[in-house]
Amino acid sequence: MTSKPNEKSDNYLIFKLRPLQLDDLDAVIEIDRLSLPTPTKKGIYQYELVQNQLAHYRVLVVEGNGRTSELIGFAGFWLMGDEIHVSMIAVHPAWRRKRLGERLLADLLEQAKASQAVLVTLEVREHNTAAQSLYHKYKFEVVGRRKRYYKDTGEDAILMTLFLT
Ligand SMILES: CC(C)(COP(=O)(O)OP(=O)(O)OC[C@H]1O[C@@H](n2cnc3c(N)ncnc32)[C@H](O)[C@@H]1OP(=O)(O)O)[C@@H](O)C(=O)NCCC(=O)NCCS
Repeated sequence: MTSKPNEKSDNYLIFKLRPLQLDDLDAVIEIDRLSLPTPTKKGIYQYELVQNQLAHYRVLVVEGNGRTSELIGFAGFWLMGDEIHVSMIAVHPAWRRKRLGERLLADLLEQAKASQAVLVTLEVREHNTAAQSLYHKYKFEVVGRRKRYYKDTGEDAILMTLFLT
């Protein structure tokens, strides 16, 4: 179980980003379950990690202050030529609004630049204002909409892109 942040003693925490490993998958699907209307099956992440050559996932862990290392967020993308597509970015609900989603996105964009990508694309649910606000903050622009793209809620997908200069 993921512990909650402690406002009094959490000044000494260390946040680290590292590549996703097989051992991380249970924590990843737990965060996914808490984040999406329809949870992603573990096998999908396993496929992403083991078989999908295009996929690149990194996890955010918190350490220090007597805590054992805990996985509290992750982000992934597919690298296709000079384009990357953001497949997922999520922070455990107990750790949101602490600029950690931003840290994951900034790290993902650094990886994109290092991979010589020039375009970042993504889809986001029309009612997911938190994620849309995060993407706008990083200068993503709305370029389209796919009607009723998400079968579980019937929501439209908002298509957003960012050109890397
Ligand atoms: C989207 C998500 C990753 C943001 O993570 P977070 O760590 O809470 O976000 P941060 O603290 O880094 O916030 C960065 C910016 O995102 C936006 N934001 C984050 N949460 C928000 C909220 N609840 N309402 C409005 N804006 C929000 C703001 O622009 C914020 O900047 P600000 O602090 O200057 O206002 C997180 O809400 C999440 O995991 N959601 C569920 C998974 C998901 O929907 N992923 C996106 C799939 S496309």
